[in-house]
Amino acid sequence: MCGIIGYHGLEKTSDILYSSLLKMEYRGYDSCGIALFKNNKVSIYKNIGRVSKLVTNNPITFDSLIGIGHTRWASCGEVSLRNAHPLKSFNKQFTLVHNGVVENVEYLKEKYFHDVIFNTDTDSEVIICLIEKFYHEDLLKTIFQVCKLIEGSYSLIIIDENDPNNLYCAKNKAPLIIGKKGFSTYVASDIQALHDSPLIYHMEDLTFAKIGKDIIIKDQFFNDKDIFFMPNLIENEPIKMKDESYMLKEIYEQQEVIQRLKAKYLIHNEVTFQDNIKNLLQDFDEVFLIGCGTSYHACLIAEEFFNKLNIPSRSYVGSEASINNLLFSKKPLIIVISQSGETHDLIKTVDLLSNYKNRILLITNEKHSSLAFKLDHVLLMEAQKEVAVASTKTYLASYLLLYFIYLYIKKEPLKQELDILYHAIGNAQSIDYTHIVEMIIKAKKIMLMGRGIDYKVALEGSLKLKEISYLPTEAYLSGELKHGTMALMDEETIVIGLMSNVNTINLMKGNIEEIKSRKANVYLLGCDKICDVFCVDISMLSPLLLVVYMQLISYYTAKALGNNVDFPRNLAKSVTV
Ligand code: M6R
Repeated sequence: MCGIIGYHGLEKTSDILYSSLLKMEYRGYDSCGIALFKNNKVSIYKNIGRVSKLVTNNPITFDSLIGIGHTRWASCGEVSLRNAHPLKSFNKQFTLVHNGVVENVEYLKEKYFHDVIFNTDTDSEVIICLIEKFYHEDLLKTIFQVCKLIEGSYSLIIIDENDPNNLYCAKNKAPLIIGKKGFSTYVASDIQALHDSPLIYHMEDLTFAKIGKDIIIKDQFFNDKDIFFMPNLIENEPIKMKDESYMLKEIYEQQEVIQRLKAKYLIHNEVTFQDNIKNLLQDFDEVFLIGCGTSYHACLIAEEFFNKLNIPSRSYVGSEASINNLLFSKKPLIIVISQSGETHDLIKTVDLLSNYKNRILLITNEKHSSLAFKLDHVLLMEAQKEVAVASTKTYLASYLLLYFIYLYIKKEPLKQELDILYHAIGNAQSIDYTHIVEMIIKAKKIMLMGRGIDYKVALEGSLKLKEISYLPTEAYLSGELKHGTMALMDEETIVIGLMSNVNTINLMKGNIEEIKSRKANVYLLGCDKICDVFCVDISMLSPLLLVVYMQLISYYTAKALGNNVDFPRNLAKSVTV
């Protein structure tokens, strides 16, 4: 899940590439690089680590009409300079940046390069070496022919050392968008990297492009394809580091998200949606929810809401949904949740469900994303850009939109719950978390436990904590304790008990006694006076408040450990492979 950029135009190409890469770091940030023409040769500049280091270490003083760049999240081959893109073909004539996965890389190497030693461990190198092998005068046609051999996903930008005037591109199952502004043409994985181009063109799967003075697009049969640029309607949200990190800023912004969602989806406290979504919500017999990571945890919460409406519902993790035969009811409502709208496992699933396209409702934060582009029923999270890899405000937005769907179906007006939540989040921000952070850091085993909906909240709390603190944590159902997990309890264990559900508090109290008698340390968050942090009871929104507490605990723990909370190791904001 890398970010790629190509530029053709009269601006300073290196500056354009650098600033586009900075905008795409959320797609991966373990290494990066650019390629430019210098004295009729293609020169490559790359480094391990962040784009800012690449910029500082490589001030470019010459001009190049075209250039390409890449920011990497290693999926094939370790993080190293030689595996960082751009990559050259064996004889160095062709240079490539690639986003995607070549699934049949071993087969291609064996068939076309038996006994040949490659320069990198990447799957991408085989593409550029195949292009070199099969090259015949027409590079775009060669790329088209080589792409027929590739199984998997790719967006590619290629330059030819003998052609300093053109970029060559191909796209299949990985995003690639062309932007036009004056004499400049940009092509990138992300609309944000197109330097506010007023005109944009989303390349379709299995299409090929030559970008120079003119733009030529070929379809999957290598016939010419008309190109229609659309106006770029993206709002350019200023992203400022006014707080000490994006993650804390985004946790704090949750209050604003509540207000924006209220403004967009409520009229006189009644939930309202656009007509096509109202129609969809009127005619279904079962609900299927699909998401990954934090968005999957939001799906799990929705199950509780639909349960209260006596509507059967089931959640699927995206990676499983894309490989299993999903058994839908006659009239399913399929809810796909994805803050980025770019998650590969979800795109794959949606493609497989093409017969059900009219029954899919997408909840996303990115209205210009690949998923939003494919689907007609879209609810926007209105969370504005989320930069930190750990999702916070988009979880809150998904949760609230699912709650709005619940209210809409139940035909129930909103009462005071959002205002109470708003103030409770303010309180959560003002607490001193030093004590719990010290307990977590001292512990060897960190467990989060709950019953019912609180278990689903524990899953999200545990994910948040592990992804930025790197401490192994586990979430479990407290009723399952005595069936195995109790064996882990001792003085080196901390158990964070989540207790938003007043109906299960007595059962939880029994579990807490059992844990304490095994000498484990206990810290309780919830709506009972025995809790270390007492949270106001907001009925169906109480679990959401507990997640906000866990976001803050995770944040302060990661800070105390000296970790990069915004860009944790081995992860990326958008999981496009
Ligand atoms: O963009 P998506 O909501 O589809 O992303 C899904 C997950 O990759 C994402 O929620 C991930 O788990 C976050 N890093 C969690 O904080």
